[in-house]
Amino acid sequence: MRKVVIIVAAGSGSRMQSELPKQFIELNGLPVLMHTINKFYEYDSHIEIRLVLPDDHVKHWLQICERFIFPIRHEIFSGGSNRFFSVKNGLQDIGEDAIVAIHDGVRPLVSLETINRGFKLAAKKGTAIPVVDVHETIRHLSQSVSKTVPRVDYRLVQTPQVFKSSILAKAYNQEFHSSFTDDASVVENMGIEVSLYEGNRENLKITTPNDLVVASAYLNHNS
Ligand code: C5P
Repeated sequence: MRKVVIIVAAGSGSRMQSELPKQFIELNGLPVLMHTINKFYEYDSHIEIRLVLPDDHVKHWLQICERFIFPIRHEIFSGGSNRFFSVKNGLQDIGEDAIVAIHDGVRPLVSLETINRGFKLAAKKGTAIPVVDVHETIRHLSQSVSKTVPRVDYRLVQTPQVFKSSILAKAYNQEFHSSFTDDASVVENMGIEVSLYEGNRENLKITTPNDLVVASAYLNHNS
């Protein structure tokens, strides 16, 4: 089966307090997004790479690709008003015969093992969602009271979330709902149960300036 990755990178990154969205910021000498693309290419040099970008940053991206002499082929798609619509744009003409990973552009620390586990499980079960254990204690807030809940009952969800393309094509034909914060929630809304697999703890979503410090330390450690 064809392997495809849709890398969504059309967010504006308001929590980064920076003019430049976080996916374009340089981390250890390379823009975040290039680290992310490199990972999927390293996993499989034949994978089809679809990159979803904000329309007003496409020119900037092409310029930095030239500046860094970035050699990896990829196709660019227009971003939407939120993640759901960005993924939907990236799914255009996806075909019935593919296994498709959807990955946040701001997660450059995904491991090759995580990507491999995701594609393998999705080929078998149709869906594959990476999760890691929760180490902190969690409290549930409701109106005036808060209560500790058993953390063993919870998992943190990451990307790549991997699916057979036939499932995604139907799921992303639904009306948008505000509860759709990832791809699993979109697929589940059609009554499909998703399969979980082990992600990797350092696969953080770069969201705040502090995350850049942590990501940089991990990259130094791994190089
Ligand atoms: O906004 P959030 O933190 O959920 O973003 C997760 C991923 O989705 C990021 O990689 C971001 O660039 C992407 N995104 C997108 N289009 C949007 C909003 C977010 O591709 N309109």
